[in-house]
Amino acid sequence: MAQFSGQRAIVWGGTSGINLGIARMFAARGAQVFLVSRSSEKVQAAIDLIRAEGGSADGMAADVRHYDQVEAAAARAAADGPLDIVISGAAGNFLVDAAKMSANAFRTVIDIDLIGTFNTARACYAHFARPDMNDGRGACYTAITAPQAVKPIKQQAHACAAKAGINMLLKCLALEWGAEGIRVNGISPGPIADTEGMRRLAPDPESEAASKAAVPLGRYGRKDEIAAAACYLASTEAAYITGTILDVDGGMLLAGSRLN
Ligand code: NAP
Ligand code: COA
Repeated sequence: MAQFSGQRAIVWGGTSGINLGIARMFAARGAQVFLVSRSSEKVQAAIDLIRAEGGSADGMAADVRHYDQVEAAAARAAADGPLDIVISGAAGNFLVDAAKMSANAFRTVIDIDLIGTFNTARACYAHFARPDMNDGRGACYTAITAPQAVKPIKQQAHACAAKAGINMLLKCLALEWGAEGIRVNGISPGPIADTEGMRRLAPDPESEAASKAAVPLGRYGRKDEIAAAACYLASTEAAYITGTILDVDGGMLLAGSRLN
């Protein structure tokens, strides 16, 4: 039997990039996945892709900034049974100097990343699987954070503040929800190849080379390497792991790396 057979997963922001890679791996390993993002066209395309790969997928359009939409999507994903796996990865980012950033630009990234993460966690709370206390089969909520949470980076004040907030939020939720057997963790990817994030943060060959040089392993990561970490955290093998941020970043946060 497939690893996640019979389990329900919802992936917020699951229609492209890293999060779609995660959704595809859960589906390939037997989970029924429910995809959410703003664009209904992107939702349908991602559903079609996963179904074409032999997986089970459904979804709907919603904006994580709007709690009513998030609540409606969580309820639809859980219509046939509770949620075993929640991945929260919707985010927005762009490079801009703090001195030139509008208040609305700062607020927009905080809204999508930090408030959106709270919204997805809060709305899914009512629908989490709680089969038995602390046996590792309770729901697993994983947010996608970033090295910006712990490493200040120029032109990233908005994303750094938002992701730092996410890291602390996750730990608070892990503390409060552990007694119900619900695990809450984060994954912090390093620079991942072929993603919108890196197209925005390293748009030219020079900045791409500098990004790779900042990683001790000397290369960009792959989407399937992040997906494998998400599958591990959602598995019973990780039954005793909660409140953790798993760095899947080629070592870029180590002292001595060249990140500036
Ligand atoms: P991406 O392809 O742009 O993925 C973002 C996803 O979120 C899309 O599905 C997008 O779809 C959705 N989204 C954006 N705003 C939304 C909103 N307000 N409500 C609902 N959904 C929304 O980006 P990515 O580069 O793969 O990044 C994915 C995650 O990994 C993010 O959390 C990012 O911070 C994190 N990360 C990325 C890297 C990297 O190297 N790329 C490194 C570290 C961390 P719609 O446009 O349809 O809404
Ligand atoms: N530089 C400076 N400011 C920017 C900007 C940029 N590149 N892009 C957007 N902004 C500002 C806008 O000017 C606006 O501020 P203002 O009202 O003071 O002018 C504010 O940010 C909101 O922009 P808007 O386009 O209205 O937001 P949106 O809600 O339609 O889109 C974004 C959100 C801006 C984050 C958009 O880039 C997006 O949808 N991103 C999702 C994909 C993504 O970022 N992927 C990478 C994930 S790591």
